[in-house]
Amino acid sequence: MGMKTYVVGNWKLNFNVGESSIYLHKLQKSLPNYRDVEVVVAPSMLALQPLSLQIDRHKMKLAAQNAFYRDYGAFTGETSFAQLRGIVDYCIIGHSERRHIFGEDDKMVGKKVEAALRNKITPILCIGETESERSFGETADVVRDQLLSGLRDVAEEEIDKVLIAYEPVWAISTTGHSKLASPDEVAEVVKLIRKTLSELYGEKVAEATSVLFGGSVNPSNAGAYLTVPGVNGLLMGGSSLILSEFADIIDIAKRVKS
Ligand code: 13P
Repeated sequence: MGMKTYVVGNWKLNFNVGESSIYLHKLQKSLPNYRDVEVVVAPSMLALQPLSLQIDRHKMKLAAQNAFYRDYGAFTGETSFAQLRGIVDYCIIGHSERRHIFGEDDKMVGKKVEAALRNKITPILCIGETESERSFGETADVVRDQLLSGLRDVAEEEIDKVLIAYEPVWAISTTGHSKLASPDEVAEVVKLIRKTLSELYGEKVAEATSVLFGGSVNPSNAGAYLTVPGVNGLLMGGSSLILSEFADIIDIAKRVKS
């Protein structure tokens, strides 16, 4: 069996519980059961529990956008992976907005990846360089460092439960001045990610690990990104908020796959 293609929608801080539920209802109704395309949505924390009762897990899955690495305790305002266990199948970890707006460092990202796996939640580990890091020629070092620390506590037998998402910060639509990453630029970094994975876990494992791309993905460019060698899926923000666009991208993923 070939690898799955992932289509992940990160809703960020959008949609209240009611709006999230209506979106999910409409999407599920229109969505066939695609076995080789894994559709995932990441609503706000507040909507996860009710949506977990509504979701048809044969058609799609839920992700949290973030969680804290300690299971319980005096951590005001946090939600733990332990509390999300059974509610979500995935969690986005180390998104650039968490790193740059909320000051999450590589060490914390590594601890979160470990906590997710411990609680049977698949981490979607986000890595990617900023515009200035790219302009100083630091892309390879930044991506490598983020990968090494994100996977610090991941043993070889667990790496198949981790997804990597390459999101160049300068290509994310909400940065306000985003540029589109060219398929060649994406291919180059994805190659580098697999090289690092190969150093850590061997070539076979590196090839079998799923690597997603994110950054201003929409229905017009989704096909091009999905055919970049080594890309196994897409992580989108803006386009996932528009149901028809998200459904189109799922369709494109299905067509590219077959
Ligand atoms: P956009 O698709 O809006 O550029 O957002 C990408 C992203 O940050 C997904 O996590």
